[in-house]
Amino acid sequence: MSEKQVTLSKKTYLPDPHYRKEAWCKDAEHAYQGYLTDPDGFWARISHELEWFEPWQKVKEWKHPFARWFINGKCNISYNCLDRHSAGSRRNKVALFWQGDDGTTRSYTYWQLLREVERFANGLKSLGVAKGDCVCIYMPNVPEQVIAMLACARIGAVHSVVFAGFGSDALHARITGAGAKVVITADASIRRGKTIPLKPILEEALIDATTVNYIVVLRTQNPKVSLLPEFEMDFYELMDSVGKKCPPENMDSEDPLFILYTSGTTGQPKGIIHTTGGYMVGTYYTCKYVLDIKDSDVYWCTADPGWITGHSYIVYGPLLMGATIFITEGTPDYPDPGVWWSYIEQFGISIMYTAPTAIRMFMRYGNEYPDKYNLESLRLLGSVGEPLNPEAFEWFYHTIGKGKLPVVDTWWQTETGMHMITTMIGEPMKPGFAGKPIPGVLVDIVDKAGNPVPPGISGQLIIKEPWPSMMRMVNQNEERYRTYWSGPDNSFGASDLAVRDEDGYIMILGRSDDLIIVSGHNIGTAEVESALVSHKAVAEAAVVGIPDEMKGNRILAFVLLREGQIETPKLKQDLIYHVRITLGPIAIPSEIRVVDSLPKTRSGKIMRRVLRAVELGEDPGDLSTIEE
Ligand code: PRX
Repeated sequence: MSEKQVTLSKKTYLPDPHYRKEAWCKDAEHAYQGYLTDPDGFWARISHELEWFEPWQKVKEWKHPFARWFINGKCNISYNCLDRHSAGSRRNKVALFWQGDDGTTRSYTYWQLLREVERFANGLKSLGVAKGDCVCIYMPNVPEQVIAMLACARIGAVHSVVFAGFGSDALHARITGAGAKVVITADASIRRGKTIPLKPILEEALIDATTVNYIVVLRTQNPKVSLLPEFEMDFYELMDSVGKKCPPENMDSEDPLFILYTSGTTGQPKGIIHTTGGYMVGTYYTCKYVLDIKDSDVYWCTADPGWITGHSYIVYGPLLMGATIFITEGTPDYPDPGVWWSYIEQFGISIMYTAPTAIRMFMRYGNEYPDKYNLESLRLLGSVGEPLNPEAFEWFYHTIGKGKLPVVDTWWQTETGMHMITTMIGEPMKPGFAGKPIPGVLVDIVDKAGNPVPPGISGQLIIKEPWPSMMRMVNQNEERYRTYWSGPDNSFGASDLAVRDEDGYIMILGRSDDLIIVSGHNIGTAEVESALVSHKAVAEAAVVGIPDEMKGNRILAFVLLREGQIETPKLKQDLIYHVRITLGPIAIPSEIRVVDSLPKTRSGKIMRRVLRAVELGEDPGDLSTIEE
């Protein structure tokens, strides 16, 4: 039931013309026309701003559903992120500022970051890691996490970064799914002044993970955690035991760069594979033209490298641009809800790229916190991960942007690797709308029959042409990959519902599949359900997303208990704890309801939409296939 009439607001903010004049992209409309006239020439021009060890011979080859980009080009993304700048005028520029949870700060110039990456890359080599091997990175948001990613890229190892908030089962699935040879972790992460051990979670995840030969541990705690000889290595001892120079591996454009797991609509997460050349060009392009990064900026993306936003817009894209990036291990409201605004004042942050869930949290705390700090260094605000609802847009625009800064609400996905839809800097902004496809991207909104819907009518969002940073494969699941590209006229189905207004501005309405976006994180209903049924008291479970003012959505779980099990508050607690341990805190249901039966189709599929409709007091729709 994707097509329905949506009432759209016409409210528009016109930014001051000087933003457009000073932006890298001065005329998005013109750039878009340029792309339409000569798509390959468009991408070729961008690719020439980066360094290739050997030039590519052809921009792309598209044999539906498989694409190759920058064919036979040889390059290395870590070289483009580091060596290119270290050899030139950015050598002594700060590449990375870091602020710890306890207020400690560290910084690395491009020169210093390159040295660290080279040594760690040699360390990985000394553990037998070679081009094409997979390395799992399970670390908090510390500079060493960035160093580990770039070191993998340098030697051609495929990294699989796992968000440090995931529990042991989720980590196990990601380690074994990717066949990681080495796992890099830390003894602990620090949050809100508390030490949260990470290594024990990894130890549990490593049971029966037969591909792992070594783990590398960043030890920050005193006394130091002990390490198992021959198997567990200290991060810095490993670096100190090897040579200092590590030439970048000659990578083919289509050599894999990383695997990143994202929630699936089955119980198993999907390992999205991105390759080197196209991803490099796509993230560079969007950092330049959407986020408008300049040499004078201090750029802060508040995500974690454990998500695609962190890969594309903390690490690779900004460093390709030679930016100064800021990262923090801290949480947004510790020691108080003014801490983020204090970073902006302290570091002179000029571009802030964050998530609607954080914006809504700050709205709740009120203006007194941002008002305490001087935010004049800011010149661009960005949002990603879920719809930036008009109320959140207004607050961000007025309270943080002082009613004058451009706000770019960027729509994209793990699968797309780069921004796809936004309002380019200097264009009129419409609260609630992400904007238009960026130059280089062709999208449409279609009905069930695959026909484009008129403005004001919702439908499925599709992408009509390949783009350089598109995922190349789902790890060990070609069939799943193929289904992405099975939209009308062989298009890519984004699994999002969207609506367009008369000006072509697109509003994203939410997912059309069984993924729930909680605080900007994708959670698969099936993953939570299988975590629940893995508890001995549960026979069956169904999980639905319910709108939530703060988090966008929250998880409501219905469970059917096994014979002899009795509903008690303690049992519900246990179930929540069980999900927390197996999947991680982000996947915890906000409520557990014990029920006697679940609505199912005659073929036994749980009808989640019925549960959701009943919960929200909405029409459950067609019930003809329901069993009882
Ligand atoms: O539903 C859309 C939502 O996040 C999904 C992609 O999630 P993930 O692969 O985890 O990547 C998140 C970071 C890019 C999309 O299918 N989404 C992402 N950005 C927006 C959004 N929904 C609305 N507006 C956005 N700006």
